[in-house]
Amino acid sequence: MSYRVLITEPIVESVIQRLEKHFRVDVGKRGDFNNEEQLVKAIPNYDALLPMLSNPVTARVIEAGSKLKIIANHAVGYNNIDLEAAKKNDVKVANTPDVLTQSSADLGMALLLAVARKIVEAQDYLKAGKFEGWEPLGFLGMELNGNTLGIVGMGRIGTALARRAKAFGMNICYHNRSRVEAGLEDELDATYMKSVRELAEKCDVLSLNCPLTDETHHLVNRDILAAMPDHAIIINTARGPVIDEEALAEALHSGIIGGAGLDVFENEPEVHPRILNAPNCVITPHIASATHQSRKSIGMLAADAIIGVLQGKPDSDIPNLIQL
Ligand code: DGY
Repeated sequence: MSYRVLITEPIVESVIQRLEKHFRVDVGKRGDFNNEEQLVKAIPNYDALLPMLSNPVTARVIEAGSKLKIIANHAVGYNNIDLEAAKKNDVKVANTPDVLTQSSADLGMALLLAVARKIVEAQDYLKAGKFEGWEPLGFLGMELNGNTLGIVGMGRIGTALARRAKAFGMNICYHNRSRVEAGLEDELDATYMKSVRELAEKCDVLSLNCPLTDETHHLVNRDILAAMPDHAIIINTARGPVIDEEALAEALHSGIIGGAGLDVFENEPEVHPRILNAPNCVITPHIASATHQSRKSIGMLAADAIIGVLQGKPDSDIPNLIQL
């Protein structure tokens, strides 16, 4: 009898077809598995799960998966999966590193440019018929050249963003769990900061590129926001709960910081109402990896891990398995 795979919602068709060549595949309806209960009910039937980052793959779900062998997340981040429970129940976990690095860094840069140059506000003004000709004091923004970008989390995406920002003439500072290798610091002319607070004080733009963990939950809080210069911009393409959204809303409305570009939110898909109407705030619905290339590669990489595990390949031949 062939193995059964659950893809929790429709993804790029060629990925589904690839898995169908090997296994019996079911594809859920969009959003059906965004709650634990539905996953707990379905999971006993499946040998492999290909979930979205919006699906809570909790200990209850994993324990209910009596046949479950592999969870291959359709994302690089995997904070939606209880890794301890996976380890305890001998279930392997995979993610999709590398294939969304460039698309995510592009979006970080797009948000940065949009906020710094007030592109959305200016477009709204124009479309509302308010444009009465060139004005010397209209929509004055921040020039990137010569200003400093502080990156929290100098991993793949943080590095790719730093390269882009350097090409725009920005100075690069960063904070990371450990210092990156000297060659990369030299290439980027990047300065290491010992704490997020020091970084926040020093930079004109702060970009969050770290994973969501217990340590990074609300890493950006009232104190960090207050430490930033009042013209500073914050960019978040990592995970919403890395910022205390209530504190950010307050900081934007009271002018404690200058602006924000956000692709992720604390309680997705909800967005704090005071973020929705905050000044100088550009928001996108978690689209960092939303390019044709990335989404196809993400699916294929997750599928590779499922095929590898169900066909009994050694772990060392499945490079995107997470060390549990
Ligand atoms: C991921 O894959 O973790 C990203 O958040 C997708 O945008």
